[in-house]
Amino acid sequence: MPTLWHGRFAEGPAEALQALNHSIGFDQRMFREDIACSRAHVRMLARVGLFEAADVETVLVALDAVETEMSDGSFAFVDSDEDIHTAVERRVTELAGDAGARLHTGRSRNDQVATDLRLWVRREMAELAALVARLQATLAACADDAGDAYLPGYTHLQQAQPVLLAHHLLAHGWALSRDVDRLLGARDRADVSPLGAGALAGSSLPLDPDGVADDLGFATRFENSLDAVSDRDFVVEALFALALLGVHLSRLGEEIVLWSTDEFGFVALDDAFSTGSSMLPQKKNPDVAELARGKAGRLIGNLTGLLASLKGLPLAYNKDLQEDKEPLFDSCDTIRLTLLALDGMVATLGFDTDRMSESADSPYASAVDLAEFLVVAGMPFREAHAVIGGHVRTALAGGGTLTDLVAADERLGPEAAKLLVPGAAVLRRTTPGGAGPEPVAEQRQRFADRLAAQAERI
Ligand code: ARG
Repeated sequence: MPTLWHGRFAEGPAEALQALNHSIGFDQRMFREDIACSRAHVRMLARVGLFEAADVETVLVALDAVETEMSDGSFAFVDSDEDIHTAVERRVTELAGDAGARLHTGRSRNDQVATDLRLWVRREMAELAALVARLQATLAACADDAGDAYLPGYTHLQQAQPVLLAHHLLAHGWALSRDVDRLLGARDRADVSPLGAGALAGSSLPLDPDGVADDLGFATRFENSLDAVSDRDFVVEALFALALLGVHLSRLGEEIVLWSTDEFGFVALDDAFSTGSSMLPQKKNPDVAELARGKAGRLIGNLTGLLASLKGLPLAYNKDLQEDKEPLFDSCDTIRLTLLALDGMVATLGFDTDRMSESADSPYASAVDLAEFLVVAGMPFREAHAVIGGHVRTALAGGGTLTDLVAADERLGPEAAKLLVPGAAVLRRTTPGGAGPEPVAEQRQRFADRLAAQAERI
């Protein structure tokens, strides 16, 4: 089978060139988008008088047949099928003869591939946003189940102040809501049709890029043909949104890894979402959480790799741009698998809330409440900090319990010592957005509202 561009060449392509140059191995997954573009293109050609009505019908029937063959796996690829655009056109021409040979009128693979990929990104971003929303709903459900359970909150991975478990879980939920925003933002910026830009400069034929954009459901069409075929910023944005989402999932993964250790013991993993060791019979490993952590590396690599490929490319199309698809597909696939597995893992976590409160109940966790007690009585905070720090130092050096030292200090006394009772500190986090039961009740409602608003946009 000759190549699409054989006319100018006396000799066929070398095998090594084909092996490097062909993208069919990975871009065939855009066949639906490619066929949709061809349908819209041929209808537009008919509207502007470049295609006979009967030919449109023949080509549309052939496109349907190609779509069926590609969906059911019966499509026979041949050597010269360089990429998905070539393969579809070749087969349509086989099926539709002369009418098929007219399909590429006024069109280049350069505007075609950009259009296919924008359609692909537009759909995929929405689907992945819906999967993120599912994980958010799971976190919200765990937060509801957690009631008023609390655990140590950490800074520097050192115990700092107790926080409600619901608050901790929702912290991950809010980060994910910004990921949803970013995915939908990437979707919206991909929502521009490049079809009609041609190879780089538009056409001498009376094409109608607005009509074709409309037909494909794009929000708008390109403004500049050179820009339309040469930029992949919409892919970079998608990769960034996915990389940052991956970073957020890696942080959640890391906490599940830590929390499931014997040392923490805050969660037990469900059998279905943990793995065993080939040698050590007692082991139960948090592989899903570790992979959520590890996958962030390749997501970041996909982003930086494409940025490096794009850097310094002159206008307009260059074959370097073919390097856009593998990282994009890989990042989307990676995030999809990670989200599904992590969602299942979180949904089945067994929280050991007794263990959590036991760890959180050290009197030192209430030290700032003691300082604030002094502040309310009129002492400058810096001074109060030093007074309480002194008591902590004495207690740690074996000079009595913090509770006794506080009770015996006339500036503090028994009222202040009550602040050290287990469970008291978390109740006192009352400010908006804070970690105590009062603001967390409000936060739950705001989070539910956010999920509902998000669902509308997806
Ligand atoms: N497979 C190509 C890509 O992914 C399609 C565009 C080819 N254009 C060209 N002028 N060779 O970028």
